[in-house]
Amino acid sequence: MNILIIGSGGREHAFAWKLAQSPKTGKLFIAPGNAGTSVWGTNVNLSPLDFSGIGSFCKSNQITMMVVGPEAPLVEGIHDYFLADPVLKNIPVIGPQKAGALLEGSKDFSKQFMQRHHIPTAAYATFFPENISEGHRFLDTLKSPYVLKADGLAAGKGVLILSDLKEAKAELTAMLRDAKFGAAGCKVVIEEFLPGIELSVFVLSDGVSYKILPSAKDYKRIGEGDTGLNTGGMGAVSPVHFADAAFLKKVEDQVIKPTIAGLKKDQIPYKGFIFIGLMNCNGDPYVIEYNCRMGDPETEAVLPRIKSDLLDLFEGVATGTLDSRSYEIDPRTSVVVMLTAGGYPGDYEKGDPITGLENVSGSVAFHAGTVERDGQVITNGGRVLAIASLGSSMEEARKLSFRNAEIIQYTGKYYRRDIGRDLE
Ligand code: AMP
Ligand code: GLY
Repeated sequence: MNILIIGSGGREHAFAWKLAQSPKTGKLFIAPGNAGTSVWGTNVNLSPLDFSGIGSFCKSNQITMMVVGPEAPLVEGIHDYFLADPVLKNIPVIGPQKAGALLEGSKDFSKQFMQRHHIPTAAYATFFPENISEGHRFLDTLKSPYVLKADGLAAGKGVLILSDLKEAKAELTAMLRDAKFGAAGCKVVIEEFLPGIELSVFVLSDGVSYKILPSAKDYKRIGEGDTGLNTGGMGAVSPVHFADAAFLKKVEDQVIKPTIAGLKKDQIPYKGFIFIGLMNCNGDPYVIEYNCRMGDPETEAVLPRIKSDLLDLFEGVATGTLDSRSYEIDPRTSVVVMLTAGGYPGDYEKGDPITGLENVSGSVAFHAGTVERDGQVITNGGRVLAIASLGSSMEEARKLSFRNAEIIQYTGKYYRRDIGRDLE
């Protein structure tokens, strides 16, 4: 099969790396890709939102499957665009249509979905510019801390957790009246704060059956000990020891099964990944959010633990035969340490030469924000490289990732040295 992967981060590098291992893979393309993806396939200079450019490329390169990494093209309807074209509709797309991607694209939609299908989640209410004062009154009924969420996609920045009631009211006004988060914040979901430990559960579905992928924990804050600003993710580990068999059984029965059944009941076709952000509250799962894609950097921790042929699973998704595909998980522990650019998640430099990549051993260095210029790999984003290692224990996997994190050099390199320490 000839495959086009859409995206340019560590997640897409991990997809390219894993799909390149399949005997069924023919040509592999990545749009736009990065310096790492070009080792496994051919980078194509197209934006993930350039649907007509992507469609033309697929037609002229005999693409037989498209795998969509990031949420934006899914929420904007890339899958629907393909289905509406007489030629492109024959190319299976891994990633839901717009209706399913709304689980991530609208917090209000996803909360209504969970309520309708009795999926455990925090109590909530949704407010608009017309009823800000009702929003203030609703906040009066809640206990601190207060959770405010912009309805639409806000690149991970649309959630505010505030301990002060006055501040929460002021922020609600800023979001709704002053469009603090632009159009994404014209609707705001206010919800009850859920105390607990967070984890990510990933499901691959053909719309009827599903496979539960290894679960992972993401480290979101820039600073060690989970301090400082939120980032796209500073590292990930899989498996997550506090998600034991009993907890995961609850997740399957109370969250995954009703989610798949709910999509069917609501006549929402869904072929792709469902990333469920969960809070473990005293042993019970509550859904914080759905995403319509894999996580980044979780993918870099999860894919190395899938022993089966990922393309065979994707074929199962495309043809509605996922149930019959073989699926095996590596029991080892995976640790991903993200190397970032100095200053990230604030302003940071790009274009610094990266050295030492050829000396990495025992880990895979998935490229996140890199580009190749005149034969030299240089930094090209806030998150630069994801160092992924498998070990028979958390300690062994951590050691490998940290050793290789030291070997790679560029100006301003930063990483958290405590990834996985809390779970050791
Ligand atoms: P979201 O974009 O919905 O994932 O929210 C971003 C982060 O805010 C989550 O990863 C959680 O750490 C936190 N969060 C969101 N909703 C809640 C909630 N109801 N209670 C506690 N923490 C939350
Ligand atoms: N690592 C969190 C995300 O991909 O949204």
